Amino acid sequence: MNTPAFTPRVFSGIKPSGGLQLGNYLGAIKRWVDMQGPDFETVYCVVDLHAITVWQDPAELRASTHEVAAALIASGIDPESSVLFNQSQVSAHAELGWIFNCVARVGWMNRMTQFKDKAGKNAENVSLGLYAYPSLMAADILAYHATHVPVGEDQKQHVELTRDIANKFNHDYGVEFFPVTEPVIEGPAMRVMNLRDGNKKMSKSGDSDMERINMLDGADLIAKKFKKARTDPAPLPDNLEGLKDRPEARNLVDIYAGLSDMTSEAVISEYAGAGWGQFKPALADLAVAKLAPISDEMRRLMDDPGELDQILGKGADKAEAIARPILEQVYDIVGLVRSR
Ligand code: TYM
Repeated sequence: MNTPAFTPRVFSGIKPSGGLQLGNYLGAIKRWVDMQGPDFETVYCVVDLHAITVWQDPAELRASTHEVAAALIASGIDPESSVLFNQSQVSAHAELGWIFNCVARVGWMNRMTQFKDKAGKNAENVSLGLYAYPSLMAADILAYHATHVPVGEDQKQHVELTRDIANKFNHDYGVEFFPVTEPVIEGPAMRVMNLRDGNKKMSKSGDSDMERINMLDGADLIAKKFKKARTDPAPLPDNLEGLKDRPEARNLVDIYAGLSDMTSEAVISEYAGAGWGQFKPALADLAVAKLAPISDEMRRLMDDPGELDQILGKGADKAEAIARPILEQVYDIVGLVRSR
């Protein structure tokens, strides 16, 4: 059978749970913006069905969905040229997710490190949805026959699982229906680390707010967080090799690189020999210069949730127009009778 050519299409998603942090911006959002253009169709999704795999207060979930939509638009996602919507408005995700629950193997899910981290010792008590989460994620991607998925490093295993699910579906049904998706994990800030512990990733759910930069933090708070960020006493070396066992220092260099569109190598040669008293204020200024216009625009957009709902609704119509025909073909391939 000939392998069909798939339209180059980007899909990625972000959970509306808690606030957004710098890792989301550098590892995902900023790169989603850069991928818009003539090379790809771009489909970006606020994955609310993923958020509810852990308890979400309904009013907060609604507010977070608006916040994430606002962040994406304020960062430069253009709802006219990209498809921007929230997941629960396009039922193809949940429907294909069920089919993939029947394709994916329990053993595959058991290997997912993020589930193990999140469930911890409490695995008997977490929701079944949290366990099945990666197969819904595969459905998000494959409902659009997406070929490229830009994500941060922490999502790599889930995108690899998506490839396994696509391959098994194609093999079990003797078709070449789903593309084998490429994770796109490129750039200096694919794993932004916690400001207080360079061995832990920055996340929205850490214990202390000082561990992370939130997209809505003001200038003073950003400066304070970088000032208090853990480092070591040594100045910056003149090459990256010199940061090998200095995770906190390496993280700040990578953040600078991500924000300035430089490579980490270029940052280290520019700041070779600099102490933290010089580097941290420069980093804080850079972060404020990049984030303040975005957070101002986010606040403006969040003041008008009705307008955001309209944008998400229109995006959902466009998303549905791509995903529904793909899902219908899946139903035919699987042998599900549809007679109305
Ligand atoms: P989520 O909501 O946890 O994170 C959204 C995106 O931000 C990236 N990210 C980071 N990148 C670098 N450093 C960090 N510290 C950091 N923290 C978060 C994540 O890698 C991600 O790209 N399961 C996904 C959402 C999802 C999805 C999808 C993604 C659902 N369906 C389909 C791609 C395609 C998640 O929980 O991301």
